[in-house]
Amino acid sequence: MQNEIAIELAGDGKQPVFLEIATSIIREIERGRLKPGDALPGTRALASSLKVHRNTVDAAFHELTMQGWLVAKPSRGTFVASDLPDVRSANRRTRSRSGEGRLRTGKAAPPLLHVSDGSPDPREMPRAALARAFRRALSTPAFLANGSYGDPRGAISLRTALADYLVQDRGLPVSPDEVLVTRGSQMGLFLAATAILEPGQTIAVEEPGYPLAWAAFRAARARVVGVPVDAQGIDVSKLAALAEREPTLKAIYVTPHHQYPTTVTLGAGRRLKLLDLARRYRLTIIEDDYDHEYRFEGRPILPLAARTDADGSTIYIGSLSKLLAPAVRVGYAVASPEILTRMVDRREAIDRQGDLPLEQALANLIEEGELRRHARKARRIYAARRDFLANEIHRGLGDDVVFNMPAGGLAIWLRLSAGLNAETWSSNAARAGLSIAPGLRFALDAANATQAFRIGYANLDESDLKRVIAILIRTRPRR
Ligand SMILES: Cc1ncc(COP(=O)(O)O)c(C=O)c1O
Repeated sequence: MQNEIAIELAGDGKQPVFLEIATSIIREIERGRLKPGDALPGTRALASSLKVHRNTVDAAFHELTMQGWLVAKPSRGTFVASDLPDVRSANRRTRSRSGEGRLRTGKAAPPLLHVSDGSPDPREMPRAALARAFRRALSTPAFLANGSYGDPRGAISLRTALADYLVQDRGLPVSPDEVLVTRGSQMGLFLAATAILEPGQTIAVEEPGYPLAWAAFRAARARVVGVPVDAQGIDVSKLAALAEREPTLKAIYVTPHHQYPTTVTLGAGRRLKLLDLARRYRLTIIEDDYDHEYRFEGRPILPLAARTDADGSTIYIGSLSKLLAPAVRVGYAVASPEILTRMVDRREAIDRQGDLPLEQALANLIEEGELRRHARKARRIYAARRDFLANEIHRGLGDDVVFNMPAGGLAIWLRLSAGLNAETWSSNAARAGLSIAPGLRFALDAANATQAFRIGYANLDESDLKRVIAILIRTRPRR
């Protein structure tokens, strides 16, 4: 018999849609709502009820067939595999053994080549130096705050090292007292929003943009409104129009150095207009400078915050996720004393303080020049990968895509030529073992989605980058 199945699509872009569908189906099997031998709905009907492309459902079914959950019977349809064990009890056993909820049936999924949105290569991280510094921190009682709690703003050693670094490398006139160490910039974005916005007030964001920032602002109960981005970055005249008609607009979130996801650098003219607009309408700028060190041509552009210290209208947010690894949860925020105090109070309420030994170890890494040395080395490696990927794209995808060579950052924004659909392409690629997110993931409103891919190149070596492009060539949809 054919069952009704419950499929929940979070639509938050954290996972490709086909994987969300596949996970939902596995959950239905685990719960026993789909039993061995049951028929699944047809892909056309399921696609239409979920409002996704049929290829997406095909990709989910294909994935589950490969994993052994489903079997496809020619001209009869797709069925839950009849040789599954009693999955509910097996699942309970699996859960209690491994602590995770995923039932394994024995057949492994095909190896997936994952295109990130711009992660660094963990193989290049200065792990030995960090491990040494961490060991030193752990074995020194003073670095463990002598058994007590530390400052909710973070270890003074790291705040001092970061302040020096920001003064010297980014022209930010900062003292250690104006620095708050956070667990990644994600925490900084949330704290910034709660510190400056009342529930219901509006924050403008770039569109396309960074969905996790929108999630942080929404969690702070702010209203998030998109402003389009063009070849020079955020369209400041559209922002001005929004500021004029929207009295609840209080803040603007930007990624001016390398706009996420388009990689565009906000031009000098636009920067001045943006600063002027912020002053006129008393907007706080949240500047997310997430990959500052990666500038391949010329020197990095100074942050907006380097020009706005006098009126304190900018909250500057940084991260070590791109320089070291996202697994090292350390970011920082720089703001005026009033704003910083509000952020610190909120931080203390949810996370009394950060990880002192880690903070101490990172302070050592900065003081000893290791972080700068690493940045120089990583810049060289990633610039070569960017060039390699650009060449592969030119050679293999030619007329199907256009892109501007990014002056920095860890990703190429690849726009598709007319007639090519990024979701279809992404589903096709998934079936061939390549996970790559379509432009829809970066859209605030699906109607504005760009037909594009953001290809992070830093964590893939040349042979992986070659494979990525080879799969894209093979799976390109027909126009
Ligand atoms: C736009 C943007 N900001 C910030 C970050 C870093 O986030 P976190 O410091 O929380 O790891 C990322 C990482 O992907 C990002 O893309």
